Amino acid sequence: MFDVHNFPVPAEWAKRAWVDAAKYQEMYRRSIDDPEGFWAEHGKRLDWIKPYSKVKDCSFGPDDVHIRWFEDGTLNASANCLDRHLEKRGDQTAIIWEGDNPKEDRKITYRELHEEVCRFANGLKSIGVKRGDRVTIYLPMIPEIAVAVLACARLGAPHSVVFGGFSPDSLAGRIVDCDSHYLITSDEGVRGGRPIPLKANADTALERCPDVKKVVVVKRTGGKVDWVDGRDVWYEDLVAKASPDCPPEEMNAEDPLFLLYTSGSTGKPKGVLHTTGGYMVFAAMTHQYVFDYHDGDIYWCTADVGWVTGHSYILYGPLANGATTLMFEGVPNYPDASRFWQVVDKHKVNIFYTAPTAIRALMREGEGPVKAASRASLRLLGSVGEPINPEAWLWYHEVVGDGRCPIVDTWWQTETGGIMITPLPGATKLKPGSGTLPFFGVQPALVDGDGKILDGAADGNLCMLDSWPGQMRTIFGDHERFVQTYFSTFPGKYFSGDGCRRDEDGYYWITGRVDDVINVSGHRMGTAEVESALVAHDKVAEAAVVGYPHDIKGQGIYAYVTLIAGEEPSDALMAELRKWVRKEIGPIATPDLIQWAPGLPKTRSGKIMRRILRKIAENQHGALGDISTLADPAVVDDLVENRQNR
Ligand code: PRX
Repeated sequence: MFDVHNFPVPAEWAKRAWVDAAKYQEMYRRSIDDPEGFWAEHGKRLDWIKPYSKVKDCSFGPDDVHIRWFEDGTLNASANCLDRHLEKRGDQTAIIWEGDNPKEDRKITYRELHEEVCRFANGLKSIGVKRGDRVTIYLPMIPEIAVAVLACARLGAPHSVVFGGFSPDSLAGRIVDCDSHYLITSDEGVRGGRPIPLKANADTALERCPDVKKVVVVKRTGGKVDWVDGRDVWYEDLVAKASPDCPPEEMNAEDPLFLLYTSGSTGKPKGVLHTTGGYMVFAAMTHQYVFDYHDGDIYWCTADVGWVTGHSYILYGPLANGATTLMFEGVPNYPDASRFWQVVDKHKVNIFYTAPTAIRALMREGEGPVKAASRASLRLLGSVGEPINPEAWLWYHEVVGDGRCPIVDTWWQTETGGIMITPLPGATKLKPGSGTLPFFGVQPALVDGDGKILDGAADGNLCMLDSWPGQMRTIFGDHERFVQTYFSTFPGKYFSGDGCRRDEDGYYWITGRVDDVINVSGHRMGTAEVESALVAHDKVAEAAVVGYPHDIKGQGIYAYVTLIAGEEPSDALMAELRKWVRKEIGPIATPDLIQWAPGLPKTRSGKIMRRILRKIAENQHGALGDISTLADPAVVDDLVENRQNR
């Protein structure tokens, strides 16, 4: 129904962009017909220490699943983001840092960033970090998070960044899972004018992590922290003492660059592993073409480095391209709802990349805060993390972009390393709400429940038929789970977990997750994780969690909770459970709605019928479908009657 709105490529974009419609067709064809030749050529955008002679060796099974790109080449990711730019653009700003407080900002040149990264890499060496060691990073959005990431890359020590909003328990689980012996954190973070006790959280987490030998602490606020002598060291001391000369480690293309934990449909987050060569080629190339990045552009991605978007599109992609990348410590509504646009004006941002949830929240505040800034520098807008509803798309386009800026709605995942389905601003006619067409080398397919590939306009499960360089290589420490999760539902294909429609123009429209993962404000949450946090509370006997449509967050968290015998439901207990989940996982996992459930709908074999719970949560209880297989159909009446979303 929204296909009536078509936004053609503005003429000046078709002219100046790297790629116009004809070039897209030509390059895309070649990338599919001759992937070896295509990627052999585009892999050259990086500086290789030893050039690759092999380009691609990938199998999606069914017998053996392996993914290798550029496998005999060697390189260093930090050298590609820093050293190679020194000659031409040493004095160019690499990072513009905008503090939570509008009065605080910093500009860091490529030369300065290079020196700081070398010093910190030497500092890390001095406390024992060596090639192959996993280093956990639990930092706020301060320049030191870029320094820490790049210093690890320089040493060939895979980093595992844990979002600063995660609880001590979540942090501990991630440290233990990858057997990380080093942690980098800060005294506190600051967001929306309020301090966040990162070091205190880390101290609590480390009670469960006896193998962590050293904790590096960045001084952000000067707030008081507890100190463990012999274990804790100040970042500032390490850097001051260290030499600025640190040659990069020569890494194989398939050596791990980082792991990043993400939620799946089972309780335990998975350590998604990305390697060096393919990931860097894909992050850099997508950044250049999707955002049509040209020298001199000021580029701002509002994500947190704790998520994959921050890895690929605040740090690795832009820095590999020698871009100027803006890093923002704060939140969209502090000091007020005009902040994003004030920052755009202040730093003359040309390319702006954010999440639909932020747009919907700002849309509520009306046009005033947007119009309070000129936004004259803006040329391109981007969206990522969840489906953008056409109303929000149109507001973004008309109000924020004054109707002149194309929007790139980019579909991808932690697992894909970089953008997979997206418009290119000089090539693709836009339809609000559609991610449009595949990037070079990406071969999407829609399959039905039996794995049959659907042709033409269709609705199905979104799979990939072949590998692309940015693809994750495995789940850290559990290759079997990797194969099981992504390649067993539809054997021989990568299954994304998303549902998707393709229209008559071949445009893709993501319809959301089809597994037990929900997307809350663009953050992925496994329902099983929230359930296990709830049942860990001593008054809870059983819990089932589903998503439901939420105006701002996209999806909200709806929890059905059965108390243990003898416990009475109360508002106080409800508040306590919400607080409990925040403490167990982090604020992003807080249930929006909790319904007391005397019983859950189960089949005779004891399986919870989530389909029914989803319908009730969505307030669609008129369409529950077949409930004849339920052990006790009467529980449904109670749940419908006491539903929380009306
Ligand atoms: O459901 C899709 C949704 O976010 C999921 C990936 O989440 P995560 O790994 O946390 O990465 C988010 C940032 C890349 C996908 O499976 N998603 C992401 N981008 C879009 C999207 N859904 C619709 N449109 C998008 N542009």
